[in-house]
Amino acid sequence: MVEGKVVVVTGAGGGIGRDIALAMAREGARVVVNDLGASVTGDGSDHGPAQAVVEEIRAAGGEAVASTDSVAQAVSAGRIVGTALDAFGRIDVLVNNAGILRDRFFHKMSAEEWDAVVQVHLYGSFHVSRAAAPHFKEQEGGCLIFMTSTSGLIGNLGQANYSAAKLGLTALSKSIALDMERFRVRSNCIAPFAWSRMIGSIPTDTPDEQERVKRLKLMTPAKIAPLAVALASDTAHDVTGQVFAVRNNEIFLMSQPRPVRSVQRTDGWTPQDVVSHALPALRASFHALDRSGDVFCWDPV
Ligand code: NAI
Repeated sequence: MVEGKVVVVTGAGGGIGRDIALAMAREGARVVVNDLGASVTGDGSDHGPAQAVVEEIRAAGGEAVASTDSVAQAVSAGRIVGTALDAFGRIDVLVNNAGILRDRFFHKMSAEEWDAVVQVHLYGSFHVSRAAAPHFKEQEGGCLIFMTSTSGLIGNLGQANYSAAKLGLTALSKSIALDMERFRVRSNCIAPFAWSRMIGSIPTDTPDEQERVKRLKLMTPAKIAPLAVALASDTAHDVTGQVFAVRNNEIFLMSQPRPVRSVQRTDGWTPQDVVSHALPALRASFHALDRSGDVFCWDPV
């Protein structure tokens, strides 16, 4: 489906990114497997994971090169795109997948924990996308895929840094879709659910927790790849500006914010009117203080 295309997948040394890289290669793409080889919290680096995925792709008869630069700074992000140009002469698809976690309740979150997460997810995706943009413009075509999260789209406890970055990504994706439509550049988001090291730290002390984790393990990272490959292919030429979610065998189209209800007064509002009129009238459409698990409350299919 993506025969001959040059695809860069960031954070592809493991988890969801690895499976996307393998699937892209199986469908004929030439792949840049980027991974810094960091821990879940973003510490350290290791060239091993990216190279191992490259070898896996080559062993299956595919074409791939490794990149171990970080997405998080402009210069190193530029080198990731440079690797695609040096090895394959172009870039057609960028999957912004690299990510880290520094979970902490908001009132205890340090500025360093905020920075580290926003730096990799939001700045990282910006830097690599920005480095790819002139090439997309020049060749009048390109495809971006951002990995967002229901932690940002809906909400989750202890993830203010991650949620803010992930919701920021959806606005970045939509903005690129708007700004670069004239150059036939498409941009979409996927909110994945998958058992990976990122969610592997859930405690399994009680039978209930063990049962839950057993169900979560069914959601393998490989389940995300078919949608990513389809979005990258020319058959999805009219799909842009969308937010999808994938959970095992389920694919969802997520809503995007639109007005749900309005009130007007010809003479304008006083704060008292807002309390006596606007808030009661709007209350029927208030959103509950939901977490991702409240909305996705049934077992994955
Ligand atoms: P993972 O931890 O297995 O993979 C992330 C990869 O990114 C790692 O291999 C890591 O070395 C790499 N990385 C970290 N910082 C980097 C940097 N600065 N430059 C280059 N590479 C870097 O995690 P997983 O679960 O595969 O997550 C992939 C993406 O999907 C992430 O963006 C994550 O936020 C998102 N996601 C995952 C969910 C899940 O259920 N697993 C849920 C929602 C979103």
